[in-house]
Parts: sequence; C-alpha cells; structure tokens
Amino acid sequence: MATPRAGAAAALGHLLSALSRQQQRLWSRPSAPWERPSSIRLLSGTAQASAPFLRGNYREVCERAAREPGPFWGALAREALLWDTPHHTDCEWDFVQGRIRWFLGGRLNVAVNCLDQHVQHYPDRVALIWEKDEPGTEEKVSYRELLDMTCRLANTLKRNGIKKEDRVAIYMPVSPLAVAAMLACARIGAIHTVVFAGFSAESLAGRINDSECKAVITCNQGVRGGRVIELKKTVDEAVKNCPSVKCVFVTQRTTNKIHTGSRDILLEEEMAKESSVCTPEIMDSEDMLFMLYTSGSTGKPKGIVHTQAGYLLYAALTHKHVFDYKQDDIFGCVADIGWITGHSYVVYGPLCNGSTTVLFESTPIYPNPGRYWETVERLKINQFYCAPTALRLLLKYGDEFVKKYDRSSLTTLGSVGEPINHEAWQWFYNVVGDGRCTLVDTWWQTETGGICIAPRPSEKGAEIVPAIAMRPFCGITPVLMDEKGKILEGNDVSGALCIAQPWPGIARTIYGDHERFIEAYFKAYPGYYFTGDGAYRTKKGYYQITGRMDDVLNISGHRLGTAEIEDAMDEHPAVPETAVISYPHDVKGEAAFAFVVLKDDTAHPETVTKELRAIVASKIAKYAVPDHVLVVKRLPKTRSGKIMRRLLQRIVTGNVNDMGDITTLDDSSVITEILDAYEEYKIKHPTL
Ligand code: WTA
Repeated sequence: MATPRAGAAAALGHLLSALSRQQQRLWSRPSAPWERPSSIRLLSGTAQASAPFLRGNYREVCERAAREPGPFWGALAREALLWDTPHHTDCEWDFVQGRIRWFLGGRLNVAVNCLDQHVQHYPDRVALIWEKDEPGTEEKVSYRELLDMTCRLANTLKRNGIKKEDRVAIYMPVSPLAVAAMLACARIGAIHTVVFAGFSAESLAGRINDSECKAVITCNQGVRGGRVIELKKTVDEAVKNCPSVKCVFVTQRTTNKIHTGSRDILLEEEMAKESSVCTPEIMDSEDMLFMLYTSGSTGKPKGIVHTQAGYLLYAALTHKHVFDYKQDDIFGCVADIGWITGHSYVVYGPLCNGSTTVLFESTPIYPNPGRYWETVERLKINQFYCAPTALRLLLKYGDEFVKKYDRSSLTTLGSVGEPINHEAWQWFYNVVGDGRCTLVDTWWQTETGGICIAPRPSEKGAEIVPAIAMRPFCGITPVLMDEKGKILEGNDVSGALCIAQPWPGIARTIYGDHERFIEAYFKAYPGYYFTGDGAYRTKKGYYQITGRMDDVLNISGHRLGTAEIEDAMDEHPAVPETAVISYPHDVKGEAAFAFVVLKDDTAHPETVTKELRAIVASKIAKYAVPDHVLVVKRLPKTRSGKIMRRLLQRIVTGNVNDMGDITTLDDSSVITEILDAYEEYKIKHPTL
C-alpha cells in the first residue's frame, strides 16, 4: 500500500513528466516514505544483487522491464544496493539532450557496497586472488584485508589533499593495490581514471590533462610475461607535461629502487602510517564514479563518464545473472583493469556481489600456452571470461595445453570485446569446456557499463546459438535502423544497432564535452542511443553483432580510431597525409594497414616507415602500430577532398572487383596506381 507521502511523490512525478513531455521523460515509482539518517547503515542481511530479478518467468520479467523500466530498476536498486538514503525518482531521461539520471535523491557509497557490507558478514571471505605473473605465486586478499588496504590508501590520498570530485589517474597493472586505489577513490568521492598500463607517456599525459588529474597512482615497475615494464619511467615522462598533477603515489611491485622525484610519495610507507578506518563520503546516485577513455571515430579519445548507483547496480546484476554466479564461486575474468571489462567484471560487479574475483597479471602464453588452464585448475575457477583474440592465439598451439589440466571446476565460459568466430567458439566450448559448460558471447561497450546482449539469462535450458550474443539483458531494448533512420521490424534484418530506452549502466556524458556525447550517440537516430555497431536479427529474433559502422578498429578486442593512428603518423615531418584501414587478422581479429604519402621523393620510404611505427608506439601504444605501412604517391579522394578509405579497404581485402560507387572519385587512375604498389608490396610480404 502506498503511503500518502508516496502517493504525493508519484503525483508529483506525473505532474513533472506531463510538464516536460517534450524535453524530458521521467520514470517514477512511489518514493520510499521513510527517512534515513545521513550515515551509512548496514541493513539487516546482506544487500546483494540477488534481488527478485529472475523470480518468475524470464520472458515476463523482460517484458515488465521494457514496459515499466523505472519501477523495474527502481525496485532492484532498493533491494540490491546498500543505501544511505533511498532514491525518490527512478529515472529522468531525454535521449535528444543525452540526459540520463537514475535513482535521483538516492545517496550511497560504492566502496561500502563493495567492501563494508561483506566485511560485516564474512570478513575472512577471499575477495581477490592475485594471480601474479609467475605461476604458483598467487596471493589471496580477504574482504577485511581489502577494506583495510582501501581505507589506508583513502586516508593517504586525503592527507595529500585529494578530496571529493578530484580526478586521480591510476596507471597500474592488475593488482590488489590497483583495486584498492579504485575503491579508495570511490570511498572519498574522488573520480578515478584508470589508464591501461600499456599506453605510452604521451597517451597518459593526454588523459591526465583532459581530466586535470591532481594525482597519479602507479608502480615502480610492472611484471608481465616474465618481462619488466618501466611504469614509473613512463609516468615521469608523462607528468613533465601535466601541470595539474600535485603528487605521484608509487607502489613497489618489484624490489628495484625507484627514482624519487619532488612529487613522488612512496605509497606503502605512507599507508602504513594511516588509520585503517576511513569514513565514507556519502555520494549522490548521479555523482561521477569514474571516467574511462576510449577511442571514437575522431582523433581524440573520449573520457566516458559513469556515475555511482546505476553503474554499480548494472555491473552487479549482469555479473550475477549472465554468468550465473553463485555464492562461493571463483570468478575469473582475465581482462586488465585498464579496460571497461576490468572495471565491471574484475572489480565492481564481483565485489558488489561479495564474490571472489581473480586478478590476472600475466599473459595467456606465459610461461606457456597452458597458462589459463593451469590457472583454472590451481585456483578452481568456476566462471572464465576472456577475449576471442586470446582464444584464437591459443587454439593454434593445439589441445594438449588445455587437456593436461583439470577444468572440471568450470561452469560458465564467456567471451567479450569483439565478434567471436566459429572456430574459436567451438574450441572454447568443446575443448576448454568439454562441451558441458554454458558459453556466453557477451556484447557491450565502455559506454554501456555492463553486458547488454548475451545468451544468458534466459529461460531454463534455452538454446545457445554458437558465436552470437543473442538475447538482450532484461531492460535492454535493441532496435535496428535502416540507412534512412527507419526502424526495421521483424526478423531476418540487418541494420544499425540502437537502444530505445536507458538502463542504469549507460554512460552519462563525455567528460568536459557533453556536445560530443550527444553528437556521437544520440544524433544519428534521434531519440535512440546509437551503439556504432551493426547487427543482424536472425530468423528466430536473436541478435548477431556484425561489427563497427564507424571508423573504429577493434584490434585484439581493443578499440582504436583510424583517425587516432592517422593523427599520430601525420606528425612525421615527411608525411603530409595517411589513411588507415582495417583488415581481418586471424589472431587479432582486425589489424591496421596504413597508406602513407611522402612529401617529396627524397625521403627514404623504409626509414620513414620505421619512424612512423616508432611514432605510433610512442604517441599511443605498441598495440596501435599498424602491421603494414605502404608508401603510395596519392590517396583516393572525392572531388571535395575526402579520403575514400573504403576503396583502400577493398584493395587490401581482395575485393577489387567490387569497388562500389566510385563516381565521386576525383581521379580513377589512382586505383590502378595503388593496386600496383600494393601488389608489389605483397610480393615482399607474402604473409599478408
Ligand atoms: C565490440 C568492450 C561483437 C563492439 C566491452 C563494441 C563486440 C566494442 C562484442 C566495444 C561481442 C564488444 N561481439 N563485438 N561480443 N563485444 N564488441 O568499449 O564493436 O572496449 O562496440 O568494450 O567492441 O568495445 P569496448
């Protein structure tokens, strides 16, 4: 029964939505009639993303979620998260303005949800298993220890002037301290931006400057695949050009002494002096939790912003229900924390659910290609989540490396980040999973916060079609659009993949550039979120992702804009223009091929090519270096001067007989010219 107060709130909700029907949509549920004191209170029992989510028939739940998303997510938020103050309005949204707000009026702390509530009930449960680079040297961290570490780290940040809303860059490999650093920021209301520790100094500096970080947290050195990575040196190089950075916190991953600069603070030493109690900052649902930079179709990476409650709820629910995570399972997501997969399924989702989550520091082939499966056997992993690129690499080494290890603990396998090809899917399912595990191909994006399309959850025993993502998560409403922006109805159709309604995990903005947020996601199909991907709806109504529709490459599951690579190469003084395209690669999924024009004939192509590779590595990261660089005299352009990358792609993929519409091409002789250069190049590079 709604109380009079709840009724009044609902009435207000209706009034507001009626008033602003044109601009803003408001989903309301009767607000909670009681007040909570403004301090964290642990409710009886453990708030967990178990919720009533799949109570009842899956189809009915999904229908309800689509019909009444506000009350649907609102009820889940109340049950699954631990609140200081419950929310009064489920959702306000307006896709035209790119405005999305969930759980308004609610106040909570993410670190309390990920740590304190579990410590109260089972302090000694293992939160993290740090699977270090050397096999057999894993370290376990309990919830109590992780809370202790997080509070000490949070107090260290505070003592050094970091406060609510300050931005903090984390440039660390996967490790308990990196997780504690993320949670420490969350605890004090600072906003973290984790930068993948493979990015160059210049990339790191660009991200630090864009978000005006006050501090950087890093390691002296990283260790990966038996090799030492000089992280601190990279940070030193980066912060030379970062005036906003007041301090650099350095942890010791190896015993090597590190150079101590004027801004450096030795993190462990300072943490030891701090209290292990840190009062959490109570945050509004829509305060920023973190930003994560990702590539778009223009040169500059964008800082995708996620907020507190909606993100956490969505990460936790998808973690639980897509992977069928059960209490006491050991969840193994081998992604790096530098990517969104690491945020949602190494850190926030699993920890909110009180799980034991694996932090994988190594590589799939160190010390040999059996590493993943040896780890599965030793740690008794139940859910194993990885990228197709790793599977494509591993299957080349044969089945022996898998079969010699006991994988009977596995129940669910997951793949993420790029389309999974049939061969990799079958190998994962049959060889790794012995044909008895559920395999979920999960589609989602940095911007979606969590998994949006995956075979599970679904009705008990529902079929899984190999190598496709299949079913929208409850509350996700995919639509396919044709070129004219008309919704494609029915099955057996392909189009641009959009989502019609917001869900709690959707990004809220691009840091410092809301216009770009609108432009990138809400302009192409007004009133819808455009994912940038194309999809096919099968005859049975399942979704199959067909790939990016914009100028974004997916190299080994990592996003990169063609423009980002081109911008880097264009900085070479002898190179006036370049065009980067992608082509299929049997391990990386996609690889980059660069066509380069030189200013004059005196420049030595081989030297320039080498220099270009070095420039890309130093400006972006090693993985961004194009596999092939071909010097050509001209690029194909339209009469208005636009480079026709599509034609270059057809040349590299061997589709020269199907060049499509070339009527806008300025001079068609350029095609023969490039084809000749390409054929010559191929003779020298037979592996292409
Ligand atoms: C692609 C990674 C096909 C897609 C979580 C998307 C996929 C981009 C799949 C997001 C999948 C991700 N099948 N393609 N299962 N998962 N992608 O932001 O193009 O690094 O738009 O997030 O990866 O990459 P991001």
